[in-house]
Amino acid sequence: MKKIGIGLIGLGTVGQGVANIISNPNDRHPLVGELELVSVAVRDLQKERDISFPDSILTTNPIEIVNNPNIQIVVEVMGGIEPAKSLIIQAIRSGKSVVTANKAVIARHGEEIANEAKSAGVYVLIEAAVGGGIPIIEPLKQSLGGNQITKVSGIINGTTNYILSRMDKEGVNYADVLKDAQQLGYAESDPAADVEGSDAADKIAILSGLAFGGTINRAEIPTTGINLLEAIDVNYARKLGYAIKLLAISEKEKAQSSGEESQPLSIWVEPTLVPADNPLAGVNGVNNAILVEGNPIGQVMFFGPGAGSGPTASAVVADILNIAGIQAMSEENPFNLDPLLSAKSWRSCHVANEKEITKKNYIRLIAEDTPGVIGQIGNIFGQKKISIESIVQFDASHNQAEIVVITHKIKQGQLSEALLEIKGLPQVKRIAATMGCL
Ligand code: NAP
Ligand code: HSE
Repeated sequence: MKKIGIGLIGLGTVGQGVANIISNPNDRHPLVGELELVSVAVRDLQKERDISFPDSILTTNPIEIVNNPNIQIVVEVMGGIEPAKSLIIQAIRSGKSVVTANKAVIARHGEEIANEAKSAGVYVLIEAAVGGGIPIIEPLKQSLGGNQITKVSGIINGTTNYILSRMDKEGVNYADVLKDAQQLGYAESDPAADVEGSDAADKIAILSGLAFGGTINRAEIPTTGINLLEAIDVNYARKLGYAIKLLAISEKEKAQSSGEESQPLSIWVEPTLVPADNPLAGVNGVNNAILVEGNPIGQVMFFGPGAGSGPTASAVVADILNIAGIQAMSEENPFNLDPLLSAKSWRSCHVANEKEITKKNYIRLIAEDTPGVIGQIGNIFGQKKISIESIVQFDASHNQAEIVVITHKIKQGQLSEALLEIKGLPQVKRIAATMGCL
């Protein structure tokens, strides 16, 4: 069999992991031995790296890779929106299949890229874009295809889960452990994407598109990160029997009529209190866990390392092997695409208004420690038909009290109205934190 030419755009955390696997095929799937790294693009040729190549392989011009006739599969692991998106499209137009870990590009331009790939008769595979080393894209496209999916949820950012786990165990602030997450290669080149929740929003947009069969407008996903989370809330959550996790949730709303063209979905990302006995509470460090619910399967959970060089490279190479396997089979008929591997949508989806999201909530208020405050807060919740699961007063000192309320499931529109009135109470100084709660 003729070797399959691979062009690697990017030799950072993920790219080096991929190069390591391709350069050491022993004891791996035999197809790994059929892959040949033809060219590798980097920004800085002088940078010290753990892996070395002959000068002829390295280039600072990624366009050479997308135009190289000896390359059949382009692996984009440079990150960022541009020039990554244009390079992916150019590679497709040159008849090359693409493997990418770039969730930022796929969440925003996935439909355009999938259409380009379809016209060119090539594949664009994205297993590494969500969940690091966890196989989740292929299961959603293939293994779970017989199900009516109702919900996809979980922990899909390794950096923030690593930070939250250390905040919980060591009581430190998020900024103090962010540097470690960056050194370990978990964080994005701009870690704001991790801590502000936009990386998780990109990923849940991609998962929702696959699970529910339509393109998601990424810009409409309400997103809160952990950047404003205070150690005190982690502490209170623990005292109440919860862990705080950055959850991404996507669930099917009841359609107004059966056979409705557009599927309404509630999708959001926010720090969420998870009861200590929920399996997600035990997902710590860089690990991710994704729960898929559907009919008839019930629930299935995918767990594993959600970021880092080796795990992500494992997912990238899985995609390369899928394409290499198909190319090996269908050299005679390259336009005969495997419909399970190609991306497609079969209906449109829309993101429900944030006010319609129904969930439990954690609210921390700072109020004067005077008689009747809790009663007044309770009254406002009652008037808005919000049922309270618990209301606890923590730390009361200097005439000031910290009051933590956990609600039953309510619409977020109801909660906003109640919080507006509560903020207006003369005894309430501020609403210090609001989070979801499972
Ligand atoms: P990284 O460590 O910053 O590496 C980026 C690589 O791209 C570097 O080798 C850099 O070259 C090269 N590069 C950047 N701009 C370039 C340009 N204009 N021309 C040529 N080369 C260029 O990033 P990473 O962590 O590997 O992440 C890469 C992608 O994978 C991102 O889309 C990220 O979201 C995704 N991802 C990352 C992880 C993870 O755990 N890190 C997991 C899943 C997905 P130099 O080395 O010369 O600077
Ligand atoms: N920065 C991302 C994370 C990389 O921490 O999850 C994996 O997608």
